[in-house]
Amino acid sequence: MTPGEFAIAATPGGGETASSRPTRVAVVGGAGFIGSHLVELLAADQLSVLVIDDLTHPCGAALPNAVELLEADAGSPEAADALARFRPQALVHLAAKGGVNRALRDPGDHIRRVLANSVACFEAAARAGCEAILIASSGGAVYGDAERLPASEELTPAPRSAYGAEKLCEETYLWTYRQRGLRTVALRFGNVYGPRQDGTGEAGVVAISSTRLVQGLRPVIYGDGSQTRDFVYVGDVAAATRAALFSSIGGPLNVGTGRETSVREVVAGLIRASGAEIAPDFQPAKPGEVARACIDPGRAARSLGWKAQTSLPEGLALTHRFFASQSARTSPGALRPVI
Ligand SMILES: NC(=O)c1ccc[n+]([C@@H]2O[C@H](COP(=O)([O-])OP(=O)(O)OC[C@H]3O[C@@H](n4cnc5c(N)ncnc54)[C@H](O)[C@@H]3O)[C@@H](O)[C@H]2O)c1
Repeated sequence: MTPGEFAIAATPGGGETASSRPTRVAVVGGAGFIGSHLVELLAADQLSVLVIDDLTHPCGAALPNAVELLEADAGSPEAADALARFRPQALVHLAAKGGVNRALRDPGDHIRRVLANSVACFEAAARAGCEAILIASSGGAVYGDAERLPASEELTPAPRSAYGAEKLCEETYLWTYRQRGLRTVALRFGNVYGPRQDGTGEAGVVAISSTRLVQGLRPVIYGDGSQTRDFVYVGDVAAATRAALFSSIGGPLNVGTGRETSVREVVAGLIRASGAEIAPDFQPAKPGEVARACIDPGRAARSLGWKAQTSLPEGLALTHRFFASQSARTSPGALRPVI
């Protein structure tokens, strides 16, 4: 595999064209955190949307009325039949089983449960006549300890984790569909945060800290909190995904802010947003964590005209408000099973 294979595909044009705008879209994992925000945008665009989700980790938000839902595994015959019947012009694949820690505990199981299902779903979509496949990759994981920050799509990926390696495998499979004439895009998301994220799991410092704050508990920081991430608001991520869907671009695409923020700063911002007078609880660092991560959003700006619109203080305030309102109604943990 050469670096060029992961480099930006030289797709002419890039921006939206009338012919590239699909009207029938299947969103796999559309009941999840990022998926639910995307599906709302697509429903507002009056597109026909089929959500395929096994509901193992739904975010709890109701899908818009016009959206069709199939409760099934992405790689199942039921999903393949639904795709053959629905005949989507584009597939957005967002399904995954947890993040870095879960994949690390059992990489073999992770590959069986995630990669095999994803590839079966890509194949079913291609056989159903789908013209474009967009997947959720990870800008935080595929570059590993990038030699230059912010990491641009031109860097050779070097994942350090089983999670990142699996994402890169999905990206590699996309090349086989590209050769069959499909347009393919690997959306390399930064650290996505915002309303509806699971604050009861083991990933997502913003959601977990928000949950603890509304419970009157101290947010936990592992290590000294100097590790940095590219925190990007979920509404901006949904907008970038929609823009990529409506464009003619191909290849990897970073979806982030280009700004490095330390975990300590983010937790301090959340504490400020909550108005609580509380200090973080510093715990020993987790082994193997990437020290710094930040992705260059230049390609998304140039080819899609997309730029993250939500500042970190705004995003943290919106997130805190969501978790506070959820806590007033019910415990977030009661909404979804732990995966
Ligand atoms: N949240 C982040 O910060 C982040 C960062 C980078 C990449 N990503 C990727 O973006 C995608 C969406 O992430 P999210 O945070 O919304 O996750 P999520 O867990 O909230 O949503 C995933 C959805 O997929 C569904 N699902 C899981 N396995 C499935 C299967 N085999 N078949 C059908 N449905 C299945 C779940 O029920 C859930 O509704 C994932 O691929 C994730 O790896 C997320």
